[in-house]
Amino acid sequence: MTPLTQTPQWQALAAHRDGMAPRHLNELFAADPRRFERLSLRCGELLCDFSKQRLDAETLDLLLRLAEARDLAGFLRRMRGGEAINTTERRAALHVALRADEPCFVDGRDVLPEVQATRQRMREFSGAIRSGAWRGSGGAPVNAVVNLGIGGSDLGPRMAVHALGEPADGRLAVRFVANIDPAEFAAAVAGLEPARTLFIVSSKTFTTQETLSNAQAARAWLGAADTARHFLAASNNVAAAQAFGIPAQNCLALPEWVGGRYSMWSAIGLPIACAIGMDAFEELLAGAREMDAHFFSAPFAENLPVLMALVGLWNIDFLGAGTLAVLPYAHRLGLLPAYLQQLEMESNGKHVTLDGEAVGCATAPILWGMAGSVGQHAFHQLFYQGTRLTPIDFIVPVGEPGAAQEALVANALAQGAALMKGRTAEEARRQLLAAGKDAAEAARLAPHLACAGNQPSTTLLLPRLAPRSLGRLIALYEHKVAVQGCLWGVNSFDQWGVELGKQMAREILPQMISGSGDFDASTAGLLAAIRALRAPR
Ligand code: F6P
Repeated sequence: MTPLTQTPQWQALAAHRDGMAPRHLNELFAADPRRFERLSLRCGELLCDFSKQRLDAETLDLLLRLAEARDLAGFLRRMRGGEAINTTERRAALHVALRADEPCFVDGRDVLPEVQATRQRMREFSGAIRSGAWRGSGGAPVNAVVNLGIGGSDLGPRMAVHALGEPADGRLAVRFVANIDPAEFAAAVAGLEPARTLFIVSSKTFTTQETLSNAQAARAWLGAADTARHFLAASNNVAAAQAFGIPAQNCLALPEWVGGRYSMWSAIGLPIACAIGMDAFEELLAGAREMDAHFFSAPFAENLPVLMALVGLWNIDFLGAGTLAVLPYAHRLGLLPAYLQQLEMESNGKHVTLDGEAVGCATAPILWGMAGSVGQHAFHQLFYQGTRLTPIDFIVPVGEPGAAQEALVANALAQGAALMKGRTAEEARRQLLAAGKDAAEAARLAPHLACAGNQPSTTLLLPRLAPRSLGRLIALYEHKVAVQGCLWGVNSFDQWGVELGKQMAREILPQMISGSGDFDASTAGLLAAIRALRAPR
């Protein structure tokens, strides 16, 4: 395959960029009064406004041609058909099957029956836990569920429970532990009674160091309690879960063809079902299913995940953006950026194509963010007057009218508008004069008040924060990532880099004690300093 950057479609985009980059968003809006109508799209109740992105109809046309040249349609067919698009691990990436209600095939086998069977077991487990029928070994109903997992076995459920869970009503607490630092485990079990606490060990591989360490901590904390009453597992490695002491009837299977960061729809979502009930969890699945249907059927020019991916690629590879800020204007979506960090950066933080050749261009952005409006009083200054291009996704659940909610939504819209429009030094000077400053002072201050504007953003409006709208939103980002992976030609479904760090940790751990080992000078020096700090004085 021709390297991406050498395709005529890429070259055409590069040439187009030279004319486009100097144009200000204000100019683009002035040139087209219908820009909002043209560049905002809907999927169900989700509205995506791309009009504040630094592109025009020709940009989109060229990007769509690039998608065609990279056979995006064929990629979607292979993905939906359960082909092994995760080529390095020779696996399908069929997370869409987890929310499907029609047959989905992997290697010619329909996996829908096993997906439905797991959903049914999740219904039974979560129903028993929520109703108080699940009793601890002392006979008292369980009133706390603690999920032990990390990465994809933590971030999705943690984010969704934070977004959708009812504030603890004293009936059932749902908590999460990911860090191997015992401080997180201690905080999670604070105030809980071992006799009424159920742990879910969530780990696709059941080999992850942090999770196994926390599972051992849980077993010690439970004391003599019967593990069959106090442990469930969600894993693809049921043998290892059983070896740990979790009986087979307490294990929920996780299919091989789902990657960790795409697994919140599977048994890994059990904490979500415990927190909101299985009916609401099914609504989450239904929202994702709606986005899947849109993704696999809408023409690319009207396809939200495709357009979002193309806009992102334009910002990264042609306008030079290194980051993507995701700013949900909803406190309850505060964990969304952390979830998306794994989704985007573990999926597309890649440097070689499927053929093992250098990609030749920048790939995944450094994704970060936090709930608005808090960040306005912290890092937005850099958006306004810093020297970098900082694309932003504003995510705004409209919600019910109410003074504080109105202010929250108004702030979100104001940030997008102000970052787009900016303020010239001349406008600032006039405002200063109008505020009573003398001419010399106004001239002195004006450059400091000027903001260049022209910062690109996408605004996503959801009617409200509910399981269905969250499902749609998450599936939108999942598919965006897949499209970008296809265009860059990378494997969005493996994570070999992470393995190097794990391997190094395994090598360093024994040396912490013995002090010997063949390390680089810095690591050896740090190990010596650690031993010195711990030496008795
Ligand atoms: O960080 C690497 C990783 O393999 C992630 O991809 C995964 O979500 C996480 O570790 C946890 O893995 P497991 O579910 O197997 O414990």
